[in-house]
Amino acid sequence: MEVKQYQFLIDGEWKEGTEHYDLVAPYSKRVIAKIPLADEEIAEKAVKSAKKAAGSMRKLSLLERSNILERVSIIFTEKLEECAEILAWENAKPIQAARGEVQRTIETYRFAADEAKKIAGEIIPMEAAKNGYGRFGFTKKEPLGVIAAITPFNFPFNLVAHKLGPAFAMGNTVVLKPASQTPLSAIMTAKIFEEAGLPKGALNLIFGSGKTVGYFLVTHEDIKMVTFTGSVPVGKGIREKAGLKKVTLELGSNSAVVIDETKDIRSAALKCAQGAFSYSGQTCISVQRIYVQVDLYDSFLEAFAEEVENIKVGDPLEEDTVVSALIHDKEAERVEHWIKEVRVENVYRGGERTGSVIKPTILTNIDSDASVLKEEAFAPVVVINKYERWEEAIQSVNDSQYGLQAGVFTDSLEKAYQAVDELEVGGVIINDIPSYRVDHMPYGGVKNSGTGREGIKYSMDEMSELKLGVFNLL
Ligand code: SIN
Repeated sequence: MEVKQYQFLIDGEWKEGTEHYDLVAPYSKRVIAKIPLADEEIAEKAVKSAKKAAGSMRKLSLLERSNILERVSIIFTEKLEECAEILAWENAKPIQAARGEVQRTIETYRFAADEAKKIAGEIIPMEAAKNGYGRFGFTKKEPLGVIAAITPFNFPFNLVAHKLGPAFAMGNTVVLKPASQTPLSAIMTAKIFEEAGLPKGALNLIFGSGKTVGYFLVTHEDIKMVTFTGSVPVGKGIREKAGLKKVTLELGSNSAVVIDETKDIRSAALKCAQGAFSYSGQTCISVQRIYVQVDLYDSFLEAFAEEVENIKVGDPLEEDTVVSALIHDKEAERVEHWIKEVRVENVYRGGERTGSVIKPTILTNIDSDASVLKEEAFAPVVVINKYERWEEAIQSVNDSQYGLQAGVFTDSLEKAYQAVDELEVGGVIINDIPSYRVDHMPYGGVKNSGTGREGIKYSMDEMSELKLGVFNLL
């Protein structure tokens, strides 16, 4: 990869920065690009440009918005391989998982194109009230104006799509600040939007630290909403500083799965291994805690360990790699430290670190206060514990500061319904892993996992203002 110097996108123009940082590939440690760093002056220009474009963006017809998003989806399809390689370089996403992410991105923009055409309000039955006689009431959904999108490194195409797709479908404009580690995918996305004919200034792309640029955006009076995916402390900080702005927060999790009464233990083990180790476990809904009914425990553990033996660790550009480098050395060091906190006899497989690569690790019989169980690992590390009673399993899953998604394998319909009712999470996935997600379903969490929901239609609700019209017909 040639080391190129990149620019910001502001008001439809690619603009040079004065200061730059080196973008280092997490696996090879090669410098792969020079990225401009924004200061407050640049951020102000980005907000001004988005504000200026808000008028023309909201006037685009639903069909025009939909057509732009449809074209974005088509261009992504043409550039699938190029985009997948960007991911493998900038965030060490193994190439097959990278292709999977780009395929999801294509679908996410297509859902946004579809939803843009369905924006509608409702008729309010005014006459149901004593004073409603002779009145006709209706609602319509309006764009908010300028949205700040602050996005994470782990799905840099698709989680950006989850912000831009609904924002533009709804007629908003955006200032996008992607994670410092993944600017190249954001630049590619911006170029694709340009090619698809998005009005100038509707998308502004800047790079910089949360402390300066992030803070500036979150507190700026012309930003009407902040949509953030990332860590709990940063999310809480945004919530505190954002004042009356709308805020959606997709934060972390230590997602759990329960294995209870399932006939097909091998298939459950395979799915759980995929959920725990795909993209080196760097997914908010990756399988981190597995609770297995005591009678199934030995056979599950054996089948799971067999799956793990076959996982290839290494270069993200090699076709079969599943686990590669974590995003930074310091993350690998943190996880290694957590593994060392547990007793040696509880490390069933793995546990070793080489640079920023952690070998797929299975820990068993871990106490509930261990960091590796109660904090978000974001690494290829999984805990497998056993339980005797079903109620105990529900309680263990709920014994968490997080609540994003949970999985339950059970052949009992009664237990399945009970799990949906009683698990304190945003989504319960029956007979599959918590990592299951398609991009139009509502997605979001409770407790420290955040507030608000993504999934195109649900994000569009968050990214709009409900307006009421009442006609006096008398
Ligand atoms: C996330 O890490 O929150 C996103 C997971 C996904 O979209 O599959």
